[in-house]
Amino acid sequence: MNPAVTARAHTNIALVKYWGKANTDLIIPQTSSLSLTLDQFYTDTTVQFDDHLTADEITVNHDLLSPAAGQKVHKFLNLVREQTQRTSFARVTSVNHVPTAAGLASSASAFAALAGAASRAAGLDLDRTALSRLARRGSGSATRSIFGGFVEWQAGHDDASSFAIPLEENVDWPIAMVALVLDARRKKVSSRQGMQNSVATSPYYPAWKDVVAQDLAAIKPAIQAHDFTTTGEILEANAMRMHALTLSAQPPYSYFNGDTLAAMQAVQQLRDDGIACYYTLDAGPNVKVFCQVADLPAITQHFAQQFGAQNVIVAHPGPGIQFS
Ligand code: DP6
Repeated sequence: MNPAVTARAHTNIALVKYWGKANTDLIIPQTSSLSLTLDQFYTDTTVQFDDHLTADEITVNHDLLSPAAGQKVHKFLNLVREQTQRTSFARVTSVNHVPTAAGLASSASAFAALAGAASRAAGLDLDRTALSRLARRGSGSATRSIFGGFVEWQAGHDDASSFAIPLEENVDWPIAMVALVLDARRKKVSSRQGMQNSVATSPYYPAWKDVVAQDLAAIKPAIQAHDFTTTGEILEANAMRMHALTLSAQPPYSYFNGDTLAAMQAVQQLRDDGIACYYTLDAGPNVKVFCQVADLPAITQHFAQQFGAQNVIVAHPGPGIQFS
């Protein structure tokens, strides 16, 4: 029996979004993207290859997955097996400390942790660039979760050139991300399906590629200068432009619900009242609010009153992948 390896990876929230693939099989994106890894939401995954197993045995949040439900993980393990000429099946035990599929990017931490644990358990010693490329094959956003802090996923054009690099890994800037959990149910349209619809049917998709190039060029120096206002303005506008690609798809749809709009209005109201903060959201109704640590008491109090204290989670910049 081979040794078991455990890895922990944190989720990330994109400030300049990834929304569309150039290659769906290799998960090469249409554009680069940029994210902040968060300390509060993470996945712990243990992998052990075992010659006695007759199939991969995958347990997520204490539930043994059926072969159909475990298909994505099984396919990912096949990639690791291909790299090592290993044939034995694996036992995978994963616990998500993230509301699964609620737009808090559990697939990012899940595939980053799986990439780390599975590759090491198979005897591979990958550097973080190679780990980032491997994680990408499971889920695009996982590419960035190998690193901590502010991270850029450089789109590249093939498997070798598409990986993430850290922009500021140990963040020395008192900023926070307040997650508002407005609906913790599984989303109706997965990111995978949603972005594919946008690429295929939104007439605005070509413009999105220009938007991302401009936003990346502007947000990187703003982050490096710790310019809160510019960073916030760009991330909010970028998120809304991504969501314009769902509203403009055929058939049109939206990830927003009524509470999403209420939370967005509340952020605008806080700003009008002199508390600077900016919203972003992914493929789900939950809103994340980018703010400065000094304003956390006022912001969390406001949202606790509106949405319930249990639905307000304060996150700070988090670390890259860790092994134990
Ligand atoms: C809106 O990484 O979940 O969160 O590559 O198909 O697994 P797949 O998609 P996924 O998409 C994330 C989309 C997003 C934006 C982002 O994280 O950049």
